[in-house]
Amino acid sequence: MPPVRFIHVSDIHHQLDWKKRTWSSSGLQGALGRIELHGFGRLKRFSEAATQWARILEDIELHAPDHVLLTGDLTAMGHPEELEAMHATLRPLLEARRLTLVPGNHDRYLDARAFERVFSAHLASDLPEYADAHGYPFVKLLGDDVALVGLDSTRVAGVMQYFVGRLGADQLASLARVLDDPRLSGRTVHVLSHHGPLAKDGPALLKVLHGRSVVLHHGHSHIRSWRPAENERPHLFGGGSSTEPGREGFWLVDVENHRTLEATRLVPGQR
Ligand SMILES: [Fe+2]
Ligand SMILES: [Fe+2]
Repeated sequence: MPPVRFIHVSDIHHQLDWKKRTWSSSGLQGALGRIELHGFGRLKRFSEAATQWARILEDIELHAPDHVLLTGDLTAMGHPEELEAMHATLRPLLEARRLTLVPGNHDRYLDARAFERVFSAHLASDLPEYADAHGYPFVKLLGDDVALVGLDSTRVAGVMQYFVGRLGADQLASLARVLDDPRLSGRTVHVLSHHGPLAKDGPALLKVLHGRSVVLHHGHSHIRSWRPAENERPHLFGGGSSTEPGREGFWLVDVENHRTLEATRLVPGQR
């Protein structure tokens, strides 16, 4: 079997022109996101995110991966207009079933359910019996050799905890049942979670994945990283921020199976 080629992108942080919008327009719910934008310099740092993302989409076309993995924080604030703009750029890949995505904390700030509303047609599970009321975990079966599992790591008690991230015991139990399902046996399973091992219950996630034929992909840290599989711990990929100046880029990963893969860190425009 030839290896399956993936591109892993993350943390695009597409933003509206928040400089022109009052703080009251994003309410209390948006306060944390606005502090990051205005106080921590993200408004300026990600001002070219849309242009950078357009370049990366051209790279994706050139590298022609079998599938693209997008591990959350598509937007700055989770504003429906930001999510719709990202949806428009992703439509060709989504309609070709060549992209799988999960939400990040930033996709939740203004409206906790907007992500699912905008991307509903593309979050459907091939094994819906494992999905909870919000649709997670969802499973995509890719050919005969690959399965993708999408998790929601924003199951926190309030907006101020979004940065920390949490999957919750119920979702982790469902994930374990998915991984035990005979329809996944013989496949390499790529698990997508925005916070991944960084979440409050990241250690519990790693425990569920221990000894399984899994590769874990996450975002959130904005640091592009690869911790190769060790003992019974799976390969861990941090997608970094694909659009953040100085950190821009993505992973190109050719996967033979969950242990044997080749990963290349690329910057936009690199051939
Ligand atoms: Fe992020
Ligand atoms: Fe994040």
